[in-house]
Amino acid sequence: MGFMGRMHYRCWDELDGCEVVAVCDADSEVPAKAGQAEGNIDGAEKPINFDLINFYTDFDQMLSTEKLDAVSITLPTWLHAEFTKKALKAGVHVLCEKPMALNLQQCQDMIEAARSSGKILQIGHCIRFWPEYAKTKEIISSGQYGSVVSATFQRLGTAPSWGEGNWFGDESRSGGVTMDLHIHDTDYVQYILGMPHAVNSFGAKDPSGKNIVHMTTRYDYDDDVLVTAEGSWAMAPSYGFKMSFNIVLEEATIVYDCTSDPVFKICPVKGDPLMPEVASGDGYSCQVAHFAGLIGGKKLPEVISMNDSMDAIKISLAEIESIKKNQPVTI
Ligand SMILES: NC(=O)c1ccc[n+]([C@@H]2O[C@H](COP(=O)([O-])OP(=O)(O)OC[C@H]3O[C@@H](n4cnc5c(N)ncnc54)[C@H](O)[C@@H]3O)[C@@H](O)[C@H]2O)c1
Repeated sequence: MGFMGRMHYRCWDELDGCEVVAVCDADSEVPAKAGQAEGNIDGAEKPINFDLINFYTDFDQMLSTEKLDAVSITLPTWLHAEFTKKALKAGVHVLCEKPMALNLQQCQDMIEAARSSGKILQIGHCIRFWPEYAKTKEIISSGQYGSVVSATFQRLGTAPSWGEGNWFGDESRSGGVTMDLHIHDTDYVQYILGMPHAVNSFGAKDPSGKNIVHMTTRYDYDDDVLVTAEGSWAMAPSYGFKMSFNIVLEEATIVYDCTSDPVFKICPVKGDPLMPEVASGDGYSCQVAHFAGLIGGKKLPEVISMNDSMDAIKISLAEIESIKKNQPVTI
């Protein structure tokens, strides 16, 4: 029930037909602190009434006491695999935050646990559900403006400061800026264009020389399409947070910038810019609604598979290797 726990709570609480019956957090002060949330995106501030929710500090005890249909795992990244497997083994569907895990073995174990339990495991790649990104995927797939010529993505801010013991600052526990932040764009690139055959990444380190804090990747595809993405935890605090893209198609350029007004527009080669309508809500509420639909038995199009989520880790690990070796890495 840290930053993302509160975000998921808000989404579940708003959804008809769902009830949050229990919360687990190792921090026993959570019910007293309910309603305060730090983070880089709005939406986690909603007050929580713990009179109506059973609170646990022990996950195993919650699983054995409550009759849960599903759980949102919003733990620090290094705990995703262990807790996801426990929940799946207990027969509970899992919506686990991104990144799926820190290495491919953990991802494979999570997939295996989902397959043997027969329960759904969805990883929180909320950008696939973010209304403007979802609309852009739809436009690209329709082919109405031709194919992608080039695409560039940005996700820039300061390093998260709210994690207990600064776990975000420890690459062995968070995966650093590449796996924690930039992976949103890495995953979206593979969503619209498939797996790149190689990545060429460049990174800047913090003053200690230990952690990568700013990075850029070029994703290589067989055709001439130029695709880059930049991620940063190194911006000055007064910069705030920005996620944006420019996607150049043969017949239009699609532009998104969360700091602009309008945030989203299509600039056709012929004619004036258009502001397409997008779904209501945000990426978090849309992904929780999708997951709830799936576990409720609705036939929905597949937006994110477990293998897609593992592939996002595979590409991210190649990006980290590319930065370290200062050379392209084949995937
Ligand atoms: N999708 C997004 O846009 C987005 C944004 C931020 C974070 N995240 C991801 O969400 C995850 C959580 O990030 P956060 O910002 O919420 O972190 P956080 O540090 O704010 O919250 C983690 C919570 O887990 C609790 N916890 C730690 N160990 C525990 C244990 N053993 N048992 C029970 N509770 C335990 C902590 O007390 C804390 O409340 C990370 O994987 C992060 O990458 C995703």
